[in-house]
Amino acid sequence: MLNFPAKHVFPDTTTINDKGHLVIGGCNVTDLASKYGTPLYIIDEDTVRNRCTSFRVAFKELYPDSQIIYGSKAFANLAITKIIVDEKLGLDVVSGGELALASAGGAPSKNIYFHGNNKSRQELTEAVSLGIGRIIIDSFYEIDLLEEIGYQTNKTQDVLIRVSPAVDPHTHSYISTGILDSKFGFAIGTGDAALAVKKVTSSPHLNLMGLHCHIGSQLFELDPYKKAIRVAIKFASDMRDKGLTLYEFSPGGGFGIAYTKDDSPPSITEFASAITSEVLSTCEDLKLEHPKLLIEPGRSIIGPAGVAAYTTGARKVISGIRTYLSVDGGMGDNIRPALYQASYEAVVANKMKTTSSDKVTIAGKYCESGDILINDVNLAPTEPGDIIAIPATGAYCIPMSSNYNMSPRPCVVLVKDGSSRVIRRRETYEDLMAFDVI
Ligand SMILES: Cc1ncc(COP(=O)(O)O)c(C=O)c1O
Repeated sequence: MLNFPAKHVFPDTTTINDKGHLVIGGCNVTDLASKYGTPLYIIDEDTVRNRCTSFRVAFKELYPDSQIIYGSKAFANLAITKIIVDEKLGLDVVSGGELALASAGGAPSKNIYFHGNNKSRQELTEAVSLGIGRIIIDSFYEIDLLEEIGYQTNKTQDVLIRVSPAVDPHTHSYISTGILDSKFGFAIGTGDAALAVKKVTSSPHLNLMGLHCHIGSQLFELDPYKKAIRVAIKFASDMRDKGLTLYEFSPGGGFGIAYTKDDSPPSITEFASAITSEVLSTCEDLKLEHPKLLIEPGRSIIGPAGVAAYTTGARKVISGIRTYLSVDGGMGDNIRPALYQASYEAVVANKMKTTSSDKVTIAGKYCESGDILINDVNLAPTEPGDIIAIPATGAYCIPMSSNYNMSPRPCVVLVKDGSSRVIRRRETYEDLMAFDVI
């Protein structure tokens, strides 16, 4: 078997060269590992841009009044922000830091959307002062706070209300956000959402533009989107005579991607078709004008563009039980397997034409038994110094990374047409101690 388990989980530009080396964006991954060191995160620019275009085109064709907004929490970085801005996507931010990054990356303020269940007074003041497009209100506390800030700054802020439709999206509980028992949003079923509409519409410095409803992340089913859309738009219809006009509506992001060879999520076009048809038909049924549609993909823009490269080191064979193959990164740069039991594929980047006859468990180097990147994966037989590549690592790896065990975070490079450039430098020991005060 050619050691290439699932080409569809690798970036669009992935090939194998004559030497049997993995090539991404025209760059030999083994050479990148030598040049920049490992762990190394490689982002393929073409894949990022292709996916921005696919989202834009898929939605525009079916629903012209739509806007794609990148969920920057998936990977917030200056160079990536510039690509996103260049691709004419908006930016969804969830903190003052992400807001500052979006702004520094050149995102027009009007295209920034601010989410979060507990935004601080300082963060909200920064957002209002910048004149960002929308603040998505998530709590009664936030309504009062934002009204107060509007009064103090003499500004009126456009807002959306985040509602919770009580729909189970069938994903990991840590990334399920639209069920009743969630910290996010105003529940429609309990009457909280109606109360929020009443409060916002009677707040002179808040201008209610519509509703938002993000139900979770890494979703593979279309039905939960449809149910949530119907519940939220029905609620908007019920609130018509309470001062809510649905100028804008967002079903959020959450579009699942393939991490393993067995994953086959709906295509971007299938997501677009299900969402737009449900919005159109629900509005038709309820005799509502079509709102502007705001779509917020994060993972599905950047996840498939990323590949993590590690160098192999120690090997521990427990006869009849398991072989641990240790690499020079792990839960510090990718917490997802430990946090969500996330699965990945792996290949030996310098042995792509060698048969995968070696079953190993890829272990990280951190002092935790739970620091396992992949359980029981078939690889080409390795020696110390080989390069392991793990695809689909563009999203929620570097942004969730830590300095656990005083480990410097990895370097990130952007590759395109055979060139590579650093978009996040590797941290140093000095960086690690920079914040300590004696
Ligand atoms: C409100 C909101 N929009 C968009 C996203 C992006 O989600 P994903 O990366 O799964 O597309 C998230 C992620 O949690 C979110 O909370």
